[in-house]
Amino acid sequence: MKSHIQSLLIQALDALKQQGVIPTDFEARVQVDRTKDKTHGDFATNLAMMLTKVARKNPRELAQQIIDSLPEDSQVAKVEIAGPGFINFFIDENALATQLMTALNDDHLGIQLPEPQTVVVDYSSPNLAKEMHVGHLRSTIIGDSVVRALEFQGHNVIRQNHVGDWGTQFGMLLAYMEELRAQNGEQAQMELSDLETFYRAAKVRFDESEEFATRARKLVVSLQSGDEYCNKLWREFNDISLSHCHDVYERLGVSLTRKDVRGESTYNDDLQQVVKDLDAKGLLSESNGAKVVFQDEFKTKDGDPLPVIIQKADGGYLYATSDMAAMRYRSNVLKADRALYFVDLRQGLHFQQVFKLARTAEFINPDMSLEHMGFGTMNGDDGRPFKTRSGGVVKLVDLLTEADTRALELVRSKNPDMDQAELEKIAKVVGISSVKYADLSKNRASDYIFSFEQMLSFEGNTAPYLLYAYTRVAGIFKRAADIDLSDAKMQLDHDKEKELGNKLAQFGEVLSRMVTKGQPHALCGYLFELAGAFSSFYEACPVLAAESEEQKKSRLLLSQLTAKTLKQGLDLLGIETLDRM
Ligand code: ARG
Repeated sequence: MKSHIQSLLIQALDALKQQGVIPTDFEARVQVDRTKDKTHGDFATNLAMMLTKVARKNPRELAQQIIDSLPEDSQVAKVEIAGPGFINFFIDENALATQLMTALNDDHLGIQLPEPQTVVVDYSSPNLAKEMHVGHLRSTIIGDSVVRALEFQGHNVIRQNHVGDWGTQFGMLLAYMEELRAQNGEQAQMELSDLETFYRAAKVRFDESEEFATRARKLVVSLQSGDEYCNKLWREFNDISLSHCHDVYERLGVSLTRKDVRGESTYNDDLQQVVKDLDAKGLLSESNGAKVVFQDEFKTKDGDPLPVIIQKADGGYLYATSDMAAMRYRSNVLKADRALYFVDLRQGLHFQQVFKLARTAEFINPDMSLEHMGFGTMNGDDGRPFKTRSGGVVKLVDLLTEADTRALELVRSKNPDMDQAELEKIAKVVGISSVKYADLSKNRASDYIFSFEQMLSFEGNTAPYLLYAYTRVAGIFKRAADIDLSDAKMQLDHDKEKELGNKLAQFGEVLSRMVTKGQPHALCGYLFELAGAFSSFYEACPVLAAESEEQKKSRLLLSQLTAKTLKQGLDLLGIETLDRM
């Protein structure tokens, strides 16, 4: 509806341009907002005020001219001028009811589908040398939710799990794997099942033995020069590490598959070319033997130039080098219109630098948009980065297991008589959803405190609250299974019906905000408000005990659309719904 009003205003503007009221080449940004106070209508625009300068007219007079130029429209009941020159739109209630009926009968909830784009989404992207830890949780969950929403809008989404599968640390790991296997194959297999311990043990060997360290360094060199034996070892190691990641994805209900893995190592063959091409453009400088690029806009705190390092003095390539190659691949091969990077905000400067460089060096199509969707840190109760009691990194698997256990207690306390199998089924959904939702519902740019108590609460903007709200709405239909709704009409008479209807009509707007800004918390906030609007409606408007058959059916339709919207919304967040809990 909002975009509909926008398009009416654009038509009015065109008419005013033809009449010579405003210059034909003037590009106005037409902003339309939902009003907070419904006595001011449903939507408002400040367009007249924006145009006073170019039109040299007072805003109220201009507002009247805009209104006079608006095309006839059956969905708009009334248009008014308010205050200094706002234009308020009152939507015809029948039009709202019609919109809601369309949503109810459409797979896409009646949303306006945008022009499809090819969108590359870089997310999760853990480093394979170690176990996936909580730091990768945010990228995985937030990225996956935006991926689902983009696909729902009809875009062609290409997932890229840009795993860290390359680098000098692999020498140490391969040397240790080799050594362990020579001593005891079974032991090696067992140690590899916990990469955290494996990494630590390898590091100990590396630090204590010069002989071991030399072997590790030699292995890196052989690996990089394509030695078959080393590459086989390396592939085996990465395969084990990746299977740990995929266990976590499966538990989390994340849509990444092995096909989506395209790690740093896949760009190896292109790195030399990256250096050559940057050189050919005259962008490379030499700094202490390393090849670097200086860009004017990047300086250290002290004002010294801050380069991107492309190749180290010893010939080694860096994280930035593979990102340059990856951007080129995403543009030239994948033909991305947008490339989104769900990566910790602490890498903000890195992305600003390489994005800028990719444009200057013409590595990418100039129309391709590069967007770092950065996120803050997940902290513990003490406000510091989340750690185990002994100060180690928290493994994702352990965290999810704890969430399951706590959810089971919670569900059992609400349903003391439920049998164990059913309890466990419900707890699994509640536990995982709570962890995911706690992350998704916060603005990704801010740090947040990870708290099991808060995320498993039935009060506030939490997964248990929403899952429960859904079971309540769904429950109405269990009791209304035999009512035929085929001839039902939606009528919005009561204020609470209108409020709920208005909320339901906003789904498409919220979704497009989530997708353009990469902000699932917009959708979470919306679903929370929708559940609240349903609650107020349900309190004020009896459904099954309505005054008339028509009213009952109309209210059932509203409930049905609420259930459908909640379910769809949660699905886009990667959260399963339950019929009872
Ligand atoms: N592996 C990196 C890390 O864990 C994240 C990679 C993000 N993607 C990228 N194209 N740089 O920090």
